[in-house]
Amino acid sequence: MPPAKALSLDDPRLRQALTSRSVVCLTGAGISAESGIPTFRGPDGLWKRFRPEELANFDAFLANPELVWEWYRYRRDKIGSAQPNAGHRALAAWQDRGPGEFHLITQNVDGLHQRAGSRDVIELHGNIWNDRCLECGRMQESDSSEVAGVPQCECGGKMRPDVVWFGEFLPEAKLEKSFDLAAACEVFLLVGTSAVVQPAAGLPVLAKRNGACLIEVNPEPTPLSDRADFNFFAPAGEVLPRLLEAGS
Ligand code: OAD
Repeated sequence: MPPAKALSLDDPRLRQALTSRSVVCLTGAGISAESGIPTFRGPDGLWKRFRPEELANFDAFLANPELVWEWYRYRRDKIGSAQPNAGHRALAAWQDRGPGEFHLITQNVDGLHQRAGSRDVIELHGNIWNDRCLECGRMQESDSSEVAGVPQCECGGKMRPDVVWFGEFLPEAKLEKSFDLAAACEVFLLVGTSAVVQPAAGLPVLAKRNGACLIEVNPEPTPLSDRADFNFFAPAGEVLPRLLEAGS
């Protein structure tokens, strides 16, 4: 755990960054932690005895679809009863505030950014409330009345959650757009992600290489902390409203 740092917003370069007209933000599970949703690699990240990598992959689904669905239903339950927190709301307000561009890219599948009012959210890993048929590819919104078993498509195929699993490609158009935005932005906000899962973790690296100011918000250091221009080692729900206010 890094030493607790007072949240100093006095640096003129930081002030300038916070009023930039060209901001891209990448979020991870940490932004939803204060809404009560466990992060993947945090102390509550394990479900039963499984690590996320053991369940969020296609082979695991083929071997035991009931188990994988049980895990997704557990997560849907948690997400369904959660509310967006001050961090989500600050990012939505930042986008609304204008002028200029504020693009939000998330690795989260929980939809809490949209519920907080963020628009045009790029969901790199999909959305947990959508299902997709393994056979015919048909998509449908999840049926929350189903409490057990493997949902079936009308074609008879098995439905899977329409999220990206380990070893799968991210949706190409979303990924391309994200890299374009990262390459062109002035400020890149990296919030609540361990920054270890590719290709998302490559976005801040590209932004920084192209001259963006990198601001990281995370109570813990990450592999990218040393590259950040500004680090706020504190929860997103505390930091983001202060950053928003400082730039207003
Ligand atoms: P992780 O669980 O790997 O990391 C969560 C990060 O949030 C950690 O660095 C924590 O220190 C930080 N954190 C915890 N509480 C926080 C708070 N209140 N405010 C800010 N940060 C906080 O989650 P991700 O980085 O999102 O992918 O994981 C990336 C991907 O790996 C996920 O999208 C998922 C996962 O397996 C797939 O399922 C494909």
